[in-house]
Amino acid sequence: MVVSSHKPIVLLGFMGSGKSTLGKQLASLTERTFIDLDRFIEITENRTITDIFEKEGESVFRKLESNALREVLRYPNQIIAVGGGTPCHAENLLIIKELSISVYLKISENQLFSRLSNSSVSRPLLKGKSDSEIHSIISGLLLKREPFYGQADIIIESDEITPAMVLAHFQANR
Ligand code: S3P
Repeated sequence: MVVSSHKPIVLLGFMGSGKSTLGKQLASLTERTFIDLDRFIEITENRTITDIFEKEGESVFRKLESNALREVLRYPNQIIAVGGGTPCHAENLLIIKELSISVYLKISENQLFSRLSNSSVSRPLLKGKSDSEIHSIISGLLLKREPFYGQADIIIESDEITPAMVLAHFQANR
């Protein structure tokens, strides 16, 4: 399926909203290249995101993240899944708005909780937290981040977002 614009498509949303899974599916349907910003950082840095958070702290990670974002947005015909915090730090949202078509995958808080309560080991912001701590981290961060996510060009609100739902927006706005 052809998406008429060649601009990169950036998927925004909270951790656990399915950006990477959906991004890969969309990339194969639209014959675009898929890039996961976290993986791009890990490959460039030759270490894991968890390692960067643990050894250097979040602020160093955010700098690397902003630089990586600028780098990947230089190329057309991509689907880019950014991290949950990417659009909420530095000038990242401005750059995303200027250089891409952004899509916010808006998943309910309850659904995020049920997805994230099992994955706390692999996510630095949730690592070692109890279920009730994870609940309050999700609520607090969502409150702060929603105003950023909400500025996306396209917002898709559902607990089961499919590639067809996203593509329908592009077809409708051709
Ligand atoms: C983060 C989300 C993660 C990763 C980092 C910080 C966040 O990406 O960038 O752990 O601040 O929400 P995912 O949203 O892909 O899990």
